[in-house]
Amino acid sequence: MRILVVGKGGREHALVRALAESPGKPELFCFPGSDAIFEWAQPVAAEGLESLVAWMAAHSIDLCVAGEESYLVKGEGLANLCEKNGIPCWGPPKESAQLEASKEFAKEFLVRNGIPTARATATDTLDAAVAAIAGEYPTVLKFDGLAAGKGVAVCPDEASALDFLDEVFTQARFGPGRVLVEQCLTGPEVSVFAAIVDDQYLIFTPARDYKRANDGDLGPNTGGMGAVASRQLVSPDVLATIEEQIVKPTVKGLRHEGLPYRGFLYFGIMLTPTGPQVIEYNCRFGDPECQAVMPLIEGDLAGFCLAGAKGELRTELIAFNEGWSVCVILASAGYPESSRNGDLISGLENVNNARIYHSGTQRTKDGAWQTQGGRVLAIVAGGPTREAAVTQAHSAADAVGFAGLQRRRDIGILNF
Ligand code: AMP
Ligand code: GLY
Repeated sequence: MRILVVGKGGREHALVRALAESPGKPELFCFPGSDAIFEWAQPVAAEGLESLVAWMAAHSIDLCVAGEESYLVKGEGLANLCEKNGIPCWGPPKESAQLEASKEFAKEFLVRNGIPTARATATDTLDAAVAAIAGEYPTVLKFDGLAAGKGVAVCPDEASALDFLDEVFTQARFGPGRVLVEQCLTGPEVSVFAAIVDDQYLIFTPARDYKRANDGDLGPNTGGMGAVASRQLVSPDVLATIEEQIVKPTVKGLRHEGLPYRGFLYFGIMLTPTGPQVIEYNCRFGDPECQAVMPLIEGDLAGFCLAGAKGELRTELIAFNEGWSVCVILASAGYPESSRNGDLISGLENVNNARIYHSGTQRTKDGAWQTQGGRVLAIVAGGPTREAAVTQAHSAADAVGFAGLQRRRDIGILNF
């Protein structure tokens, strides 16, 4: 089997490795990939979406796995183009990927399908947004488009709301678009992933990511400084409620509204005092949650994704380890405001009993690794208990160093 994975970060490194470990020993390719991913998957000579799909067709690719979201909604859409060329794709077509690409589309879908979510109003101008906030703080403002994780502001007061609205409407920082003014919810967050195949689904191991830069969940929002994953993260009761009130009606709604879906769907959920509510959908796995979840998967992930892309949910092909997994992110100097490239990484060879996934690294001419991005490495370890996984992941991460390294010491420990 020949599989091509689309993306280049730590999530895709973890996906590629999990696919590589599938019993069928698939031949792997990755686009655009990274030096670390290319140790497991071959690079692809393509530029842009059309040429990528043409390459897949010319090179007998059996399965395309969408790691990152942007290609799903670019041009005609990755999955749409794959379908045209008869290539099974694990990832939804453009029309369904609007669930992630447009917050307004997602909100209307949630409301239409009676799925619990925060109240929201879509606004076109700064004045309309201020009117919709109606002096109720804290408030949540969301730019209606892909903004690389920077499009959401939880605003405690009017000054912070005006700052964000100024960025969106006056400076057009994310390009043209509307702003959703949303009720601010409270409670612990959980990331729930489902593999959806038409009208069927399989819920993967739930995870939680640590979005803030600093210990104690303080400091600015980041792409994620770590994650913890386990079936035991959420009680069976709460998971059953999430399945009944959120996952099932989502799958039903997609069918009912004629939105085809074969791929991972990520439910960002807040466990509020009145029950779980959806904060967002993402049409892909989370990063860094993927790095924590993948090592818990047993069986044939490649066969599972291929069958799914062809319309068959084969739950018997995979199983989930009941233990815990902890992912510690090592980030470069300046992150998240900026990042620093070119810092030499040491100690990777001393990492024991843990997996190393590369999020942003590059090989130097003499074969060493250096930083190349904000999030640099994910160190992931598992164990039968939360404590065991935490201890192992942090002690493995202690072995790695580079100038300016930033890391949280409470990943897996802090419980929200
Ligand atoms: P998103 O990009 O939609 O994942 O939002 C980023 C983060 O903003 C979420 O992980 C939450 O921590 C926070 N957030 C989003 N929506 C709300 C909400 N309605 N109430 C409170 N916090 C929210
Ligand atoms: N971990 C958050 C995300 O992947 O969007």
